[in-house]
Amino acid sequence: MEIREGDALTTLAANLPETIDFVLLDGAKPLYLDILALLESRLRPGAMIVADNADYSPDYLARVRAPESGYLSLPFDGDVELSMKLG
Ligand SMILES: C[S@@+](CC[C@H](N)C(=O)[O-])C[C@H]1O[C@@H](n2cnc3c(N)ncnc32)[C@H](O)[C@@H]1O
Repeated sequence: MEIREGDALTTLAANLPETIDFVLLDGAKPLYLDILALLESRLRPGAMIVADNADYSPDYLARVRAPESGYLSLPFDGDVELSMKLG
């Protein structure tokens, strides 16, 4: 396991693994969309993203719920958004 300490916008901006299977978004809600943008190209088809308190990030929800977004995305258990990257 690797822990990257610091602002995720910086620590996740470089040296990402080839593929990413799972993302938990539970930091600053206004940054969810920017964090997704950093990771998106590495998400493998079928990768899961759990976004807690996603209702506070309407731009993120609009992105993952858009019909042509490349995600299957559903609200789960209150304001948790569960999204799967499609092929
Ligand atoms: C709701 S807490 C996370 C709780 C954690 N998931 C747990 O179950 O223990 C949100 C955390 O995100 C961190 N955070 C906020 N903005 C951040 C950023 N830009 N980069 C990294 N961490 C951030 C905060 O410092 C805080 O510790």
